[in-house]
Amino acid sequence: MKGIILAGGMGSRLYPLTKVTNKHLLPVGKEPMIFNPIRVMIQAGVTDIMVVTSKEHMGDIVNQLGSGREFNCQFTYRVQEEAKGIAHALLLAENFAGQDRIFVILGDNITTGNLKPHVDEYLRQEKGAKVLLKRVGDPERYGVAAIDEKQIVDIEEKPAQPRSNFAVIGYYMYDQQVWSIIRGLTPSNRGEYEITAVNNAYVHLHQLTYGVLEADWTDAGTFESLEQANAMMFNWNRR
Ligand code: G1P
Repeated sequence: MKGIILAGGMGSRLYPLTKVTNKHLLPVGKEPMIFNPIRVMIQAGVTDIMVVTSKEHMGDIVNQLGSGREFNCQFTYRVQEEAKGIAHALLLAENFAGQDRIFVILGDNITTGNLKPHVDEYLRQEKGAKVLLKRVGDPERYGVAAIDEKQIVDIEEKPAQPRSNFAVIGYYMYDQQVWSIIRGLTPSNRGEYEITAVNNAYVHLHQLTYGVLEADWTDAGTFESLEQANAMMFNWNRR
């Protein structure tokens, strides 16, 4: 399995913190934000990792992360020229992934949890994809899963009227079908190639499973959630 960490985007919701600094290098606890997804990836057993970021920030990201030797992993880097959405960024990793399945993490997703059991479960799945859900108090900020007894029947991106409290969070596992699915996408109303559209394609194929993350989790892309991520990681380190 190959790992992909998406660390591009404008970080506009954190302006001016992100005027010169990539969002994923901002501090969370005692480390740069992106260290958390890297550790989650490695703990899950995935050590061949591509980091995708913008041209403006690639230098800083490489200076911060290096070859991967410090983390006992190997990094490969790929520049995203335009910010056209998560699925668009992911497509840049197609050649890197080759015939392997992939574990994708959004670089601003922070957790204290160990995702290895979920990844192992996915690898026992014959084909398809797996997403992780987290019960949240503000589902309208996320992709939200509508669940019928035990299957996801639909995912809606940032719905005004969420159909559940289950956010589809930024840890995604895909097989090779993901590449043709992305190539078949059209941009959403906000002009982005949405990861939610990719996940819904797997729903339609009846090949999307899910796990529920019980550990603490937050994204860190807004001032409020960045503060929450800091509190979470400082408390975790104090234990
Ligand atoms: C993205 C995804 C959304 C997901 C969220 C998790 O939203 O589009 O489906 O729930 O990440 O962090 P964004 O944070 O880019 O608005």
